[in-house]
Amino acid sequence: MTVVPPPIPPPHAKMKSRAKDQFEAWAGHYDRSILNHFLFHPSYVTLMSEVARWHAENRRPFTLLDVGCGTGTLAGLLADSPWPVHVVGIDYAANMCANATDKASANNHDHRVRFVNADSEHLPFADGAFDMITCSNSFHHYPHQQTVVTEFGRLLAPEGRLVVIDGFRDCAIGWFVFDVVIAHVEGGVHHASWQQMHTYFETAGLKSIHRRKFNFLFPAFATIADR
Ligand SMILES: C[S@@+](CC[C@H](N)C(=O)[O-])C[C@H]1O[C@@H](n2cnc3c(N)ncnc32)[C@H](O)[C@@H]1O
Repeated sequence: MTVVPPPIPPPHAKMKSRAKDQFEAWAGHYDRSILNHFLFHPSYVTLMSEVARWHAENRRPFTLLDVGCGTGTLAGLLADSPWPVHVVGIDYAANMCANATDKASANNHDHRVRFVNADSEHLPFADGAFDMITCSNSFHHYPHQQTVVTEFGRLLAPEGRLVVIDGFRDCAIGWFVFDVVIAHVEGGVHHASWQQMHTYFETAGLKSIHRRKFNFLFPAFATIADR
């Protein structure tokens, strides 16, 4: 068995502004990125199956918040689904929100989705406002990860479910891809280990915490829990 070193958190200062600058610039060509094939698309597939599972257990109309929504691809998939869902996407990069809004308009999804330019640490919604919260491939940009998971817990309605997906850095391939290559390319990011993520969820008072791993070359994991 390969032993990988524990993750080293980067200095918090500048982490958010660096992410914002990168994604403001990336927004226009994000949907054409090669990472869509290797990482983002498999994450949407995993999220859609988790939403299907939640809806099979709770057959009723529901509201879903997608945090770090990027160009709103997940929101679009949900809007095309047969589920009675209303989606709010939030993103720190204004250009991402603008692109997501344009895409939703072009696809006639406006009645089911909307996008808000906001920071994951300060979400402008009431306690218990959402039945599901999803967050994919965004969490490693957050300097105060526990604060964000606690904020998610605040926003979940009773029996609500949280699904956070990020790179799985606890194996040799994942360590190399996320802690070495992506940390170098993106600079100042922090992929939480499974144990760290579990502790964040536990500290936020979430229940039935479990995880799903997927993908080989860009290994990722979903951490799932209920309020
Ligand atoms: C790699 S993209 C993922 C987008 C989408 N979830 C997906 O899977 O395609 C990461 C997104 O997180 C957003 N982000 C980074 N830091 C954020 C923060 N503090 N609050 C909200 N969104 C943030 C970025 O602007 C970017 O759109």
